[in-house]
Amino acid sequence: MSAPIGYDVDALRAREFPWEVAGEAIHLDHASIGPVPQCARDAVAAYDDRRAEPHRLGMEDFFPVLDRARALVASLIGAEAAEIALTTNTSWGVNLAAYALPLGPGDLVLGSEGEFPANVYPWMSAARARGFTYERLPLAGSAPDVAALLTRIAGDPRVRGVALSWVSFWSGARIDLDAIGAACRARGIWFAVDAIQGLGPLALDLRATPVDIVSCGAQKWLCSPWGSGFVYVRRGLVEHLEPPAAGWLAQASSGDFGRFLDYDPAWHADARRFEVGTIPYQDVVGMNATLELLHTLGPAAVEAHVRGLTRRLLDWASRAPEVRVLTPSDDAARAGIVALVTPDVAGDSARLREARVTHSVREGAIRLSPHFHNTIVDVDAAIRAIGR
Ligand SMILES: Cc1ncc(COP(=O)(O)O)c(C=O)c1O
Repeated sequence: MSAPIGYDVDALRAREFPWEVAGEAIHLDHASIGPVPQCARDAVAAYDDRRAEPHRLGMEDFFPVLDRARALVASLIGAEAAEIALTTNTSWGVNLAAYALPLGPGDLVLGSEGEFPANVYPWMSAARARGFTYERLPLAGSAPDVAALLTRIAGDPRVRGVALSWVSFWSGARIDLDAIGAACRARGIWFAVDAIQGLGPLALDLRATPVDIVSCGAQKWLCSPWGSGFVYVRRGLVEHLEPPAAGWLAQASSGDFGRFLDYDPAWHADARRFEVGTIPYQDVVGMNATLELLHTLGPAAVEAHVRGLTRRLLDWASRAPEVRVLTPSDDAARAGIVALVTPDVAGDSARLREARVTHSVREGAIRLSPHFHNTIVDVDAAIRAIGR
């Protein structure tokens, strides 16, 4: 039985992940860290070589690298390059939302229990500093309680913001961005999303999905180096947000190396106003190469491929009465994570390690997270290791 794929996964693996073909490891842990494909490793190595001897760097190695990154990210998520600021992690974008959105005393931001702390602490901190209230709604099982959230959005005039992860890091539950976004938009409520566990295994089109701010590190499902990531800020909102951190690259004059000493306080008109200073260019170079690869495969084909792999895990688990599945079974309510509570999580984790299947254990469950280069054979190796 093969997964529904739109590309030649064997050729892809041989080219981009030769260590996988050689049997070194079966990487089913993209929810923790994504492997970097060979094309990106080569691009980073070549860039690093030039960077080590700066006289070999050309003008194309500086701002054009960043321009390319914003353009690639934008086309991946149905945005415009002017709506993208490059960041070094997800947390930067979450802090931007928490500190820059127009929120103050009397305002309420709703989140959920079960959120990864990167999407909690900035809201707690900004609430203290800015005087708004941040409240986390109780979970409904292993997912945010979207029904309760929609009721609060409709009935509580204090709600001015909603801050949620697209996909839960521990259960893999996916929220309905369209429904929540539409409810927020109808009432002028800001909607900020941490997309790191969703983007990649899921395609995203922000032309159709109403979100104000999307934060995403590229180190997991975008299989890019640590230090790469982005934040999307909706056009129309960008120019109204005062950057919470200032820096020379945020200024409109930053491209003009002939007038550094003018100290012109005008921000960039686009989302570059949220970039501060020099970022790890080599990591952006790596991200660009991986994003080009993902564009070539096609985000929809990747989504379908991952769905086939996770479906295989869920089908097996549904026939294993001793296994409790935390991940919703409905395709529309999950992404690339499958979280399983087996009768012996520690033992099964050890058996997975013996079988060289990378995975993680989160909140008492074995978390498997296959991606675009994995095969049914990989997933079956995990099933064999934990299936008794
Ligand atoms: C939902 C979520 N947000 C954010 C992060 C990581 O944040 P950052 O990229 O700032 O390190 C993780 C990592 O596990 C995560 O699962």
